[in-house]
Amino acid sequence: MNISIPKIIQGGMGIGVSNWRLAKAVSKLGELGVVSGTALDQVLVRRLQDGDLAGDMRRALASFLFPKMAQRVLDAFFVEGGKESDSPYKIFNVMSLKNSKWFDEVCIVANYVEIFLAREGHSNPVGINYLEKIQLPHMPSIYGALLAGVGVVIVGAGIPLEFSNVIECLVNHEQSEYTINVHGALPETDCKKYFNPADYIEEGVSVPELNRPRFLPIISADSLATMLLRKSEGTVDGFVVETSIAGGHNAPPRGKMTLSESGEPIYGTRDVCNLEKLRKIGKPFWLAGGFGSPEGLKKALDKGASGIQVGTDFALCMESGMTTELRHKLVQLALDDKAKVFTDPQVSPAGFPFKVAQIEGSVSDKVLDSKRKKICDMGYLRTAYQRDDGKIGWRCPAEPDAAFIAKGGNPDNIAGRTCVCNSLLATIGLGQTLRDGSKSVPVVTLGDDFPKVTHLCKDGSLDYTAEDVIKYIRG
Ligand SMILES: Cc1cc2nc3c(=O)[nH]c(=O)nc-3n(C[C@H](O)[C@H](O)[C@H](O)COP(=O)(O)O)c2cc1C
Repeated sequence: MNISIPKIIQGGMGIGVSNWRLAKAVSKLGELGVVSGTALDQVLVRRLQDGDLAGDMRRALASFLFPKMAQRVLDAFFVEGGKESDSPYKIFNVMSLKNSKWFDEVCIVANYVEIFLAREGHSNPVGINYLEKIQLPHMPSIYGALLAGVGVVIVGAGIPLEFSNVIECLVNHEQSEYTINVHGALPETDCKKYFNPADYIEEGVSVPELNRPRFLPIISADSLATMLLRKSEGTVDGFVVETSIAGGHNAPPRGKMTLSESGEPIYGTRDVCNLEKLRKIGKPFWLAGGFGSPEGLKKALDKGASGIQVGTDFALCMESGMTTELRHKLVQLALDDKAKVFTDPQVSPAGFPFKVAQIEGSVSDKVLDSKRKKICDMGYLRTAYQRDDGKIGWRCPAEPDAAFIAKGGNPDNIAGRTCVCNSLLATIGLGQTLRDGSKSVPVVTLGDDFPKVTHLCKDGSLDYTAEDVIKYIRG
């Protein structure tokens, strides 16, 4: 079955901002809803520890093809009625290159659950978004999403050269492999992670025939499109082209990064994707970054795009995973003409510039920031390195400086880094209670067009729906 992708893609927004509720609302209306696939394992285990009060997680788990695996996840994390609100969540970070069966199982189940719920009650396609940079969970995550019938896989933050091949293998329930970037790896080091569905398929269960989803890498330059098409072993179906005003992580400017007086990266003409060249490649593309309006859609179509990908407007709608408190504060800032976004070149350990909405009580709050202790207890943005004893180690510039340096981390890579894993989970109400009893501080990412969200606020209301966004853009 060939899926046709509509004109409006609701962009994947991690962690858990574009959750199953938002994606379902968008897909039901005939546009493409996309769940964020980032750290879904963590999202599931925390929702279960909060007691899954509405029963959605358990309903999805009950429908899973491998009941023993679903039960193991439930047994490990479900807390009847929810854990005490001030007690910490169980730490779940078993990231390792080899022997990661338990981590892989939780990834399979979590990705299945999110797509299952987003697809429930309608027959339109639903997509999932991954960040290439977070490599260890890719294969089990894709397999879980495929088992739930995901229609489109969209990948940003890196060059997803091996994705199309992984998708082809896993659709056929065949073994796949993924090369993990290992800093300083010796030629003889095996940097591949292997994943074989046969190791997870339960006895007596016959696996269904799976549909191959569409695969859209996110790019910022036409040269990347050419490279992906030339070097990918499987099919690339099209592209999302993101500009530097889009919410989330941005591609760094080409060449040496220079900063403006306010400390933001300066982008120039070399950072603009050449759409004429892209058109000649002949694959469909969607434009992202400030296109969330009827004029934006028209402009994109006039430039030969098949449509647009929109984030910020959906991030602030009622179905978004962001806490209502943050969402209301942000919309109020926009209504008061005080909405501001800072493109922070340092805050994210991913090493890419990251758009940060300026809001009190969050990472952008300088007073809170000065009290912040460094931490890395989940590890999604850790990078692998070859240790002197030949083993693979993991380090993150958001962890305490001494530990990072002791692992051979570059001291120039430390300043300003924050554990965005913890902070992004706090933004969706799944923040950790830290050792000193304090709660992790949220971080909100939005695009430069955040002030324009006021178009959607009828009579000064702080609440609008995904349907309002779609109706507005469709004009
Ligand atoms: C809250 C938020 C989180 C985002 N997270 C991701 C992400 O996890 N992966 C990704 O590829 N893009 C992410 N983005 C980018 C969006 O998918 C989309 O491309 C972008 O927001 C479009 O630009 P706009 O914000 O001007 O509409 C995020 C954007 C926002 C606003």
